Amino acid sequence: MLRQISAVQALKGEISVPGDKSISHRALIIGALAQGKTEIHGFLPGADCLSTLNCLRQMGIEIELINNTTLIVNGSGLYGLKEPNDCLDAGNSGTTARLLLGILAGQNFFTVLTGDGSLRSRPMSRVIQPLQTMGAQIFGRNNNKLLPAVVLGQKKLKGITYNSSIASAQLKSALLLAGLYAEEPTTIFEPSRSRDHSERMLKSFGVSIDIHNNVVTINPSSKLEAGKILIPGDISSAAFFIVAGLIVPNSEIMIKNVGINPTRSGIITILKEMGGNISILNERKMGEEPVADLLVKSSELRGTEIKGDIIPTLIDEIPVLAVAGLFAQGETIISDAAELRVKESDRIAVMAKELNKIGGHVTELPDGLNIKGDQELHGARCSSHHDHRIAMSLAIAGLRTGNLEIEDYECIDISYPNFFSDLNMLMNN
Ligand code: S3P
Repeated sequence: MLRQISAVQALKGEISVPGDKSISHRALIIGALAQGKTEIHGFLPGADCLSTLNCLRQMGIEIELINNTTLIVNGSGLYGLKEPNDCLDAGNSGTTARLLLGILAGQNFFTVLTGDGSLRSRPMSRVIQPLQTMGAQIFGRNNNKLLPAVVLGQKKLKGITYNSSIASAQLKSALLLAGLYAEEPTTIFEPSRSRDHSERMLKSFGVSIDIHNNVVTINPSSKLEAGKILIPGDISSAAFFIVAGLIVPNSEIMIKNVGINPTRSGIITILKEMGGNISILNERKMGEEPVADLLVKSSELRGTEIKGDIIPTLIDEIPVLAVAGLFAQGETIISDAAELRVKESDRIAVMAKELNKIGGHVTELPDGLNIKGDQELHGARCSSHHDHRIAMSLAIAGLRTGNLEIEDYECIDISYPNFFSDLNMLMNN
């Protein structure tokens, strides 16, 4: 489907973005492995999290929907999952696929895991290979690199020490979950620190985990204690309105209840460095996670360099940061972000291609982008490449260029089904 974006004069008002996607997946999975009822508030009912929900239901987990964002997971304990009678489908969701591989490795049954065309082209060997070292029997397409994969569960796994060459929370979380089923502790070294939601949640469910900078060790566990999980708003969804508020003149947007976990909030640091007027208000804790309200006002942005250890803390926000760079004075250079090439789309190639259609001067780097800011821009017909974060980033650019059409925009349902109604609210205030 095609969506037309018009230029706006101002964005004003208050919104609450939907629940954090990463935390919503983990709440379902960890709740399913716990003993008893876990109450989840602030769940994201996006397509990705529903993929996790359906896979868990197929393995016998009862999940009651109280309303769209409140659920009760009836956990059946570490060994209570049942063999599904059909293939598990992770849809478009890398988090579903990789985290589930971690728990399937420790079950005593047979599973086949697959996903949509995008997910079936994304690398799985990063998870399959260390899980095999732990003793898991996993067989994936193309020499264990791709889905579909078959898992012949193994009730006891070996704890390992794994030195990861990539900072990936999906990989780390898969090994931590498998580590619950191991006979020894499992330790993961990361090159830079990736998001730590799994560690926080597992700890709050009574699991013994030690964390020292980029090194995490999990001790095997016999029981997880069910609890209540409060999920903050997703900073990756807030990111679109933060950038919109900065680049659309005469704007003032309040975004309530945004998760500002330091392993996720790199976008705020960078946009402030670029001259963005963002106030972090009412900082508090929501369950295990830090949250705040963000007040964003239109700003004159300057280009900057984005590289190094901050990259994993803003990896999903790079498409919309590229849009911010387009409207900034000077150059924005993003590097050390080769992981973008294996997301829902090749986000380096796609952002360069689509932003150049609207008059941008954007060059692909092997591991990032070079964006020359403040050029003459215009509307064009652009494609989302079926990638939710590309669709929403293009929509934000369109608020300035006008006449921007987005093909296949409906993929926004993956992470932010109400994106356009929230945008309309800010336009009509
Ligand atoms: C996620 C981790 C990141 C991120 C993805 C969600 C998670 O992926 O890009 O959107 O929930 O753990 P990687 O682990 O591949 O870096």
